[in-house]
Amino acid sequence: MCGIFGLVLRKGRVAPMILDGLSRLEYRGYDSIGVAVINNGVLQIRKDAGKIKDVASRLRIAEMKGSIGFGHTRWATHGAPNMINAHPHTDSKGKIAVIHNGVIENFMELKQELIDKGHNFISKTDTEVIPNLIDEEMKSDIGITEATLKALRRLKGSYAVVVLSSLEPDKIVCARQESPLVLGVSENGTYCASDAPAIRPYTNKVIYLRNGELATIDVNGYKIIKVADGSAVERTPEEITWVLEMAEKQEYPNYMLKEIFEQPTSLRTGLRLQEKYVDLLTMFLDRGKEVFLVSAGTSQHSCIAASYIFSKIARLTTYPVVSSEFTEQYGSTVGIDSIILAVSQSGETYDTLKAVDHARMRAATVLGLTNTVGSTLTRVSRAYIIQQSGPEIGVAATKTFTSQVLVLAQLAMRLAKLRGKLSQDELDEYKESLYKVPDIVESVLKETYDKVKDIATREKNSRLFLFLGRGISSATAMEGRLKLLEITYIPSLAYPAGESKHGPISIVEKDTACVFICPRGDTHAEIIGSIMEMKARGAKIISICEKGDTDIKSLSDEVIEMPKNIPELLSPIPYIVPMQLLAYEIAVLKGLDPDKPRNLAKSVTVP
Ligand code: F6R
Repeated sequence: MCGIFGLVLRKGRVAPMILDGLSRLEYRGYDSIGVAVINNGVLQIRKDAGKIKDVASRLRIAEMKGSIGFGHTRWATHGAPNMINAHPHTDSKGKIAVIHNGVIENFMELKQELIDKGHNFISKTDTEVIPNLIDEEMKSDIGITEATLKALRRLKGSYAVVVLSSLEPDKIVCARQESPLVLGVSENGTYCASDAPAIRPYTNKVIYLRNGELATIDVNGYKIIKVADGSAVERTPEEITWVLEMAEKQEYPNYMLKEIFEQPTSLRTGLRLQEKYVDLLTMFLDRGKEVFLVSAGTSQHSCIAASYIFSKIARLTTYPVVSSEFTEQYGSTVGIDSIILAVSQSGETYDTLKAVDHARMRAATVLGLTNTVGSTLTRVSRAYIIQQSGPEIGVAATKTFTSQVLVLAQLAMRLAKLRGKLSQDELDEYKESLYKVPDIVESVLKETYDKVKDIATREKNSRLFLFLGRGISSATAMEGRLKLLEITYIPSLAYPAGESKHGPISIVEKDTACVFICPRGDTHAEIIGSIMEMKARGAKIISICEKGDTDIKSLSDEVIEMPKNIPELLSPIPYIVPMQLLAYEIAVLKGLDPDKPRNLAKSVTVP
């Protein structure tokens, strides 16, 4: 979604830093960019549709003078992606500039009210009402902070808003409601941004704003107050522990490949969870009458995989639910005995937070699993675990999927122990296997990549892909499908293999690419039957199976061989890896940018 970066410096020009900050937020997805600075009391704005590099050089943004300003990458929600709709937006007099991430639900009525009072609107955005509302409030002779407070109280919806005005040229006012905003402090200045990687080159001291808070930043630091009543909030900075290199590409051509190859490391870190949090979450999971696993996209696939692990190891029934459906599907029954385990890499996904809000209103217990310290999910959860994958910049989730499954598997094992559902020997065996997973993934990366590249070359022009698996591998299939679909745009389906004969088989014809996920285990015999059904219809069979699995090999056109003795319940972690690589390779062969698929954003913070 939209990216925000603003700063005020003691010394130096802000424009080049704004461009740098925006480029670190590119992963959020955008279609236009804009920058505003104040120089000698004059507000200047340059903006247009296009990529940061192109717009910046066309409009000579880096040359803008001034030591206070902000920039924005817009991902269109209201109004086409063009220059007029790009942020910043100003009031009719051009004195107050605003950038915004989120959606103002009541903007139509506010716009009409402002038009009736003589304000002119030039864009189709919801954002443009904000500077005009602030201007309207300033008529009663109050400063920009007070006027912004009053304007914000009239907004319904979600926002991270940043305000810059030539009327008070030494400060920036910013606020958040449901969309993320983080402040940073350094010797030379104060910053605000949608996400910490934008600020990290300048400081490791950050302050996460919370919902309903407004901050004023200037060269001396920041002041936070509550939007509702203007009361002061004391909050000291937190230190970011990760280094910037972790979020940069190193020797890789793009972030997605880097993040795929980082998985052995991120998985090793994911095995070092803090015991007390694992115990706390386990205790809550054990107490619930019902457990919902609420999430979106890739995180939902981790939840589906986890539902098999919880059931088989800990004998706990869980309901994986897509977060945008949660309130409709279970909203009337969820209650004080329900547990909601919300899984979200960013911790900021609108739909997931909305579901969580609903569950909290009905007195359910909310638990969180996220990759983002200080995210909204960590604040609204009764207890949470950080999956410790490090920043993920590529829009397609890769290392965060494998870490989520790993963490959820650890919770299931701890619960099995608490409930006495497995013998000590069985538990030890699972634990041993779990600790081998990072090494297994390392060898999968080494041993399968060349083969995957060959398959990608042969299959890059396939018009359709089917991904099929049984049992827990149906979750792996869904995640494999999502990776391919989102970055190569090839239409793809994923189904539990047993379900394919109830419909999907009708679209299979000669050479339709069918990827089968076939780990050894309880579902092995059944998947052979499913492969035969597809083979009989002329499908091209691409199997991911254990080395030496001659039954599967004899039925397949292409085989990706995996290490032996991976327990089926942990198989989603290593078995997804060749499919991440396949999607990546096909995208590159098609000349597409795997880091920034069209229409997608890393963090979906709007409804
Ligand atoms: C897919 C992808 C998205 C996210 C989804 C949820 O590769 O990245 O589908 O998984 O938007 O995001 P989080 O986990 O941040 O809630």
